[in-house]
Amino acid sequence: MSPAARRGLLILATGFIALAGMLIIGLMLRDGRKGESIATPAISSVGGPFQLVDQTGRAVTEETFRGKWLLVFFGFTYCPDVCPTTLSDVALALNRLGPLADRVQPVFVSVDTGRDTPEVLAQYTGAFSSRILGLTGTAEQVATAANMYRVFYRRVDQGDTYTMDHSTLLYVMGPDTKFVTRINPQGGPERLAERLRELVSRS
Ligand code: NI
Repeated sequence: MSPAARRGLLILATGFIALAGMLIIGLMLRDGRKGESIATPAISSVGGPFQLVDQTGRAVTEETFRGKWLLVFFGFTYCPDVCPTTLSDVALALNRLGPLADRVQPVFVSVDTGRDTPEVLAQYTGAFSSRILGLTGTAEQVATAANMYRVFYRRVDQGDTYTMDHSTLLYVMGPDTKFVTRINPQGGPERLAERLRELVSRS
């Protein structure tokens, strides 16, 4: 091999190694970011003080529900699918719990303060179960509560109307108002009832 050819080969090989290196670093960075976005916050950092208004117009805080197992869900009454399904599953799960259901207080916190007045919420939650309590507040109060629960939501404009993107997990707070666990409601009412029975039977 001529020196020129050898030098050419060397440049080519170096180029390949550099390219492979960049590719690996790129993949690592992407994985890192992916890991970050699904990382769950530390358990102790979920929940905390909030000030909202319930569907009867009464001011409530996290202390209002002390002594009960609080089941917190964020959504909005115009939601086409996830919210009605979840609320209906919560209602079914509570029925399955029998008398234990008295120790659970489900609250539906609206992230759509523009449309979900206490009156609208009362009518909506009542259609699923008289046990579910709708909560709302000023945009700022709801933002604070969502932030406490590390809940994401966002308004999405659709022509002359809008919808809301929102997290769909159920948050369980113990009778001491401290965060206990999150439940993915997509497991259905039976699984939800099972999980709640397990938790409530503890205290
Ligand atoms: Ni929804």
